[in-house]
Amino acid sequence: MEYTVKSGSPEKQRIGCVVAAVFASRKLSPSAKILDEISGGVISNLVRRGEIEGEIGQSLLLHDLENTLCDRVLLIGCGKEKKISTKKFRQINQNMVKRLESSGATEIASYLTEIAVKRRCITWKISQSIEAIDECLYQFNQLKSEQKPPRRPLRKFIFSVSGRGQLADGEIAVRNAMAVSTGISLSKDLSNLPGNICTPTYLAKQAMTLQEQYPGVKTSVLDEAEMEELGMGALLAVSRGSREPGKLITVEYMGGDKDQAPIVLVGKGVTFDSGGISLKPGATMDEMKYDMCGAASVLGTIAACAELQTPMNIVAIVPSVENMPGGIAIKPGDIVTSMSGKTIEILNTDAEGRLILCDALTYAAKYEPDVVIDVATLTGACVVALGAHAAGLMGNHNPLINELLHAGQSSGDRCWQLPLWEDYQEQLESNFADIANIGGKGAGTVTAACFLAHFTKRYHWAHLDIAGVAWISGKQKGATGRPVGLLMQYILDRLKVIEPAS
Ligand code: BES
Ligand code: MN
Ligand code: ZN
Repeated sequence: MEYTVKSGSPEKQRIGCVVAAVFASRKLSPSAKILDEISGGVISNLVRRGEIEGEIGQSLLLHDLENTLCDRVLLIGCGKEKKISTKKFRQINQNMVKRLESSGATEIASYLTEIAVKRRCITWKISQSIEAIDECLYQFNQLKSEQKPPRRPLRKFIFSVSGRGQLADGEIAVRNAMAVSTGISLSKDLSNLPGNICTPTYLAKQAMTLQEQYPGVKTSVLDEAEMEELGMGALLAVSRGSREPGKLITVEYMGGDKDQAPIVLVGKGVTFDSGGISLKPGATMDEMKYDMCGAASVLGTIAACAELQTPMNIVAIVPSVENMPGGIAIKPGDIVTSMSGKTIEILNTDAEGRLILCDALTYAAKYEPDVVIDVATLTGACVVALGAHAAGLMGNHNPLINELLHAGQSSGDRCWQLPLWEDYQEQLESNFADIANIGGKGAGTVTAACFLAHFTKRYHWAHLDIAGVAWISGKQKGATGRPVGLLMQYILDRLKVIEPAS
């Protein structure tokens, strides 16, 4: 999709469709008012007749409005003018796209940017519009035998800004949002692929293509023999049960100064989680192909940074394995030695994410990172605690936690902190090894993070449990691309390229 910004009056746009807001009840936005006046009151007449009340979900498509240069005018219901939340703003944009898709218009000028959203500036509105539009148009059809492209696909959106003074900011917003969108869509594609295609080897290959695609990106992949040499006994223990060889994938994007400490992102890359010998129940087990969404999101974030040529150093580390109950798979009770030297009693082979992450987190120290953020579909308990709205957030450095909370708030890709108190640590005690890999009943999301905390003492660290937010279950099943939006906001906030939105 092509996106641009422009300032100018709606009746002067020579384009397929102009989109303007109508509020409840029957209140025209400034641009709708201009179109109404110039056309001799056509819109206000229609509104008076009850064709559109301005409720969310309503729309009205008009053709060849007099004294305008556009082919169509689309009026979009936006609800009460004073009560437009960030969530509603996205929804309004998606309603617009759904109506436009069957309209025949291919080039659009949107004046929905004039809607006032509480505490949000024009750059926020443009970024969110782009992300909402791309989300609406995303499809995953590569594995269907018949491809049906839309008859007349949407090609271009022009966002209206209120004056020339806003053009520069608007253009920065477009550039940033398009890069974030690229990252989200890469992340969704990788995540939606099934486990028989998206194996650790496949993920490694895709990471390699990032290096070919973008200057400044360097990918390296360690195989099992090389991980053995590093002593990654916990990661390799999980990988044993599968015929697919495990990989440790590292993608470095060094856009900043040589001596600038990097932000290291570690993404859980379990390409299928059967549970191993502690086998999962059959219902919805297919969704465990999504157990590599953490990996997909850190790769998507790197792609977005490379796309933007962000002047920062970012490293993605992806430990990738398949968790299967093979003949030499680990068994409950097995004790393994992690790269850190700590021994781990594996009481449940389904708590595999923390086993691969702990070695990746130990490995991460070699980058002398500024901060490390790991992203993982780690616990079912997090879905119980927070549902699909917020990722679980924990860590050992309050400023980092606060920055992530803030980035979540402004991007809309939110997270929520859970207490990582040492009181929970005793749940991980083992009779036979240094620690156990499960913490028993209660606070499953916290004890998983407590486990990781043993391996992150040498740097500032935050953990995002994305089990509830990374994909949607049910009929509309599909990856969300989260938390690419959150991570990119965090990175851009640190750069201060876009002004903080709240
Ligand atoms: N990948 C799962 C977590 C998961 C489950 C994410 C359901 C999304 C939906 C993880 O590897 C796992 O199996 N965790 C166990 C941990 C338990 C054995 C302590 C869980 O949550 O049940
Ligand atoms: Mn598991
Ligand atoms: Zn898992």
